[in-house]
Amino acid sequence: MPDSAFPLTRVTTVAALCATVAALRQDGAKIAFVPTMGALHEGHLALVRHARTRADKVVVSIFVNPLQFAPSEDLDRYPRNEAGDIALLQSTGCDLVYLPTVDVLYPQGFVSRIEMTGPAMGLETDVRPQFFSGVATVVMKLFNQVRPDLAVFGEKDFQQLAVIRAMVRDFDLGLEVVPYPTMREADGLAMSSRNAYLSREERAIAPRLHAELEEIRSAVLSGADAEAVIAGAKDALTTAGFGHIDYVALRDAETLGEIRAGLPRRLLAAVWLGKTRLIDNIAV
Ligand code: PAF
Repeated sequence: MPDSAFPLTRVTTVAALCATVAALRQDGAKIAFVPTMGALHEGHLALVRHARTRADKVVVSIFVNPLQFAPSEDLDRYPRNEAGDIALLQSTGCDLVYLPTVDVLYPQGFVSRIEMTGPAMGLETDVRPQFFSGVATVVMKLFNQVRPDLAVFGEKDFQQLAVIRAMVRDFDLGLEVVPYPTMREADGLAMSSRNAYLSREERAIAPRLHAELEEIRSAVLSGADAEAVIAGAKDALTTAGFGHIDYVALRDAETLGEIRAGLPRRLLAAVWLGKTRLIDNIAV
């Protein structure tokens, strides 16, 4: 599709965002929103394309949110590529891209935080205690600024999706949270902006994470003991060259708590490979 097929508007302030969304909304157009931290890849573009099938207009935000990074994390080196992102959005069917600065989202004197429990407990929170408060706070702000009819989130960040769903429900935000399946490379590696950190050797090892999750799923579905199978998979990951394993866990797919008989389950993992932290998950 040629670039000109989708005239893309860029805004950086709340006032310009609100005015442009109001213009897009004319005649009752339905607005879809895809929040991102940029460094866009095919996984993000799939969310944008899906948003387009569900709404008349698509708004994307690009903001690397400092609130969701601990001081020891990769905020400074998080990949940024604004010009490349805009070119991709232009050809993918985005109508409006919102590029706020930190001062726009968190002006001097900003003191509020959203604190989540429920699906935010455990897993990521065990190792990144600040993460979901940071995510929920920025997403709440972005929802209030964009006021979309629906928002699309990738299942790649499955716990984040569960947290956002709970927040939208609990705060009566009146928008639909639309999940979208994880996009994978041909060898099974889940697409992620952080894959850019992987060396050639690490990139060759990385797909093993998804392969191990698939093996756990098959074994559990054949009746094997989940804990024993997960322990074996952790050993296999270590032997393959992975570093610290933050978690590999089988959880209830909705609450992310203990599994409940007869209800959908999700297998989730976060594992280090060199200096890169990879996360992945599959339905069981
Ligand atoms: O998934 C992400 O990219 C981020 O956590 C989000 C939802 C854009 C909030 O900063």
